[in-house]
Amino acid sequence: MKAGYASSNVKKILNQLNLDPVFIRRIAVANYEAEVNVVAHAFKGVMKVYFNPAKIRIVVEDEGPGIPDIEKAMQEGYSTASEKVREMGFGAGMGLSNIKKNTDQLDIQSTLNKGTVVEMINYIQNSR
Ligand SMILES: Nc1ncnc2c1ncn2[C@@H]1O[C@H](COP(=O)(O)OP(=O)(O)OP(=O)(O)O)[C@@H](O)[C@H]1O
Ligand SMILES: [Mg+2]
Repeated sequence: MKAGYASSNVKKILNQLNLDPVFIRRIAVANYEAEVNVVAHAFKGVMKVYFNPAKIRIVVEDEGPGIPDIEKAMQEGYSTASEKVREMGFGAGMGLSNIKKNTDQLDIQSTLNKGTVVEMINYIQNSR
């Protein structure tokens, strides 16, 4: 299980720009949770990062089982994580609610037995 590489690389790039650390932290947390979810719950995925002076938009798209009930999945503490994933310290059911808290705009689209698309947008404020 190799989760966190893509999101930590994005964070490194953001750190090189003159952005509010709080802004970077929010994106890093959301992005990390989205990446871990692909590794924990899906088969494979891609992360696309779009950046302009007004906002950062990250789209994490996976091939996997999909999420049958997104509203339920969003609830704190809800998790279907496997025993193996739990042994690695994941599966508290906090990832999606953490993503929600740390994004300005969140959109989740999921198709059963096909995959999930998580789109996260954060607007850039206090850039120096
Ligand atoms: N990309 C995904 N593909 C399929 N199911 C997902 C995906 N992301 C989340 N889920 C489903 O939503 C549930 C809740 O996700 P969430 O990230 O909140 O918790 P978790 O991943 O189980 O635990 P934690 O994130 O706290 O380690 C998951 O247990 C899983 O059932
Ligand atoms: Mg999670």
